[in-house]
Amino acid sequence: MKELSLHLLDVAKNSVAAGAKHVSITLDEDEDGWLTIAIADDGRGMAPEFLARVTDPFTTTRTTRKVGLGLPLLRLTAEQTGGSLSIDSTLGVGTTLTARFQRRHLDCPPLGDLPGAVALLIQGSPDMELTYRHTTPKGEAALSTAELRDILGDISLAEPEVFAWIQDYLTEQENEAAVDASPAAVSEGEVQ
Ligand SMILES: Nc1ncnc2c1ncn2[C@@H]1O[C@H](COP(=O)(O)OP(=O)(O)O)[C@@H](O)[C@H]1O
Ligand SMILES: [Mg+2]
Repeated sequence: MKELSLHLLDVAKNSVAAGAKHVSITLDEDEDGWLTIAIADDGRGMAPEFLARVTDPFTTTRTTRKVGLGLPLLRLTAEQTGGSLSIDSTLGVGTTLTARFQRRHLDCPPLGDLPGAVALLIQGSPDMELTYRHTTPKGEAALSTAELRDILGDISLAEPEVFAWIQDYLTEQENEAAVDASPAAVSEGEVQ
C-alpha cells in the first residue's frame, strides 16, 4: 500500500470485523524517526494456533477471498524499513497490534491522509467507541468518539457533516504536529 494511513484503515477494519466495541489507535513518533502504531481492540480475539500464522497470506476467516493480505502486507512494509509487526491476542478478550516503522528509511511509505482514514472509520462504524492519538516531537493530534458524542447529543456520527468536521479538526492538529521525516530532510539535518 502506498500510504501508512491505508494500512491503518485496513487493520482497523479487522477490529470492526472482529466485533470490537472499543478501538484505540495510537501513533507515536520519536526524535529518531521511529513511528510506533498500536491498535488495540476488544473484539473476539484469535486462538494461539491461528495467531501464529496470521501474518502468512493464506490465513483468513473471510469467505469472499481465499487469502488474507492485510497483516502480511503490513508486516512486510514494517520490516522493509527495519521495523517489525507484533500481535498479542486473547480469544474473547481482544487484540493489540503494534507495528514499528523507520520513517526516514527510503522504503517507508508516507503517512498519507490520517484524518481521512479516521473519519472514514468513524463514519463506517458510528456506534463503535474510537480513540485516536498521534504524538510527534512537535505536538499531538487526538480525538475520541466519546467526546464527540457528548458534544453532538443525538446526532449520529455517520452524518456527512460530522465526517467533514472530523477531517477538518484532525487536519488542523496533524499539520501543527507534523515532522518532515523524508530521507532528504534528514540527511541535511542532524543525522550523519
Ligand atoms: N483484530 C483482530 N481480531 C480478531 N481477528 C483478527 C484481527 N485481525 C485479524 N484477524 C484475523 O486474521 C485474519 C487475517 O487478517 P488480514 O490479514 O487482515 O486478512 P483479511 O482481513 O483479508 O482476512 C482475519 O480474517 C481475521 O480472522
Ligand atoms: Mg484485514
